[in-house]
Amino acid sequence: MASNMSDQKLARSSAIFLVVGVVLTLFLIFLGNLTAGTITERVRDERNAMVQTGASELQPVGQITVGDQSETSTQTTQVAAAATAIDGAGIYQGACMACHAAGIAGAPRVGDAAAWTDRIAQGADTLYSHAIEGFQGKAGMMPAKGGNMGLSDDEVKAAVDHMLAQSQ
Ligand code: HEC
Repeated sequence: MASNMSDQKLARSSAIFLVVGVVLTLFLIFLGNLTAGTITERVRDERNAMVQTGASELQPVGQITVGDQSETSTQTTQVAAAATAIDGAGIYQGACMACHAAGIAGAPRVGDAAAWTDRIAQGADTLYSHAIEGFQGKAGMMPAKGGNMGLSDDEVKAAVDHMLAQSQ
C-alpha cells in the first residue's frame, strides 16, 4: 500500500515535471522567437536607415554634364519652350507667303495695312476660321489652311497672328 502510494506520488510528480517541462520548453521557444523577431526588426531598421542615408550620397555613375549645371538647365528650358510655342512666322513662310507676300490671286498682301483694316474689323475668330476652313471672298479664294492640310488649327492661327502683326 505504501509502495503503491509512493508509486502514485512518483507518477504524479513525473506528470507535473513533464507538464512543467513542456510549458517551459514552449515558453523558451516563444521567448526565442520574440528576441529573434526583435533582432530581425532591428537589423532591418538599421539597414533601412543605411540605405536612406546612402541614397543621398550615391550619385548615378557616368552622369554627363555639358558646360556648367545652370547652362544645362537653361538649354532644357529652351527646348521645352520650343516644343510648346508655335513658330507663326515659319508657318507663314512655308504655307501662306506664296500668296500673301505679293498679293497673288486677290490675297490681301501682308504689310499692306489698308488691305487688312476691314478684314481685321471682322474679329480674330472670323479670320481664324476663314484661314482654317477656307473662304471664298470678293477678291478671290482663300484655300483651307492655305492648301496645307497637314497644319494644325493652332499652327494656322499662329500664322494668322504673324500676318496680322505685320499688317497693322
Ligand atoms: C493660294 C493662295 C493662298 C494661300 C496659299 C493662302 N491664302 Fe489666305 N487668302 C487668299 C486669298 C485669295 C484671300 C482673300 C479672299 C477674299 O477676301 O476674297 C485670302 C485671305 C486670307 C485671310 C483673310 C480672311 C478674311 O476673312 O478676310 C486670312 C486671315 C488668310 N488668308 C490667312 C492665310 C493663312 C494663315 C495662310 C497660310 C496657312 C494662307 N492664308 C494661305 C489666298 C491664299
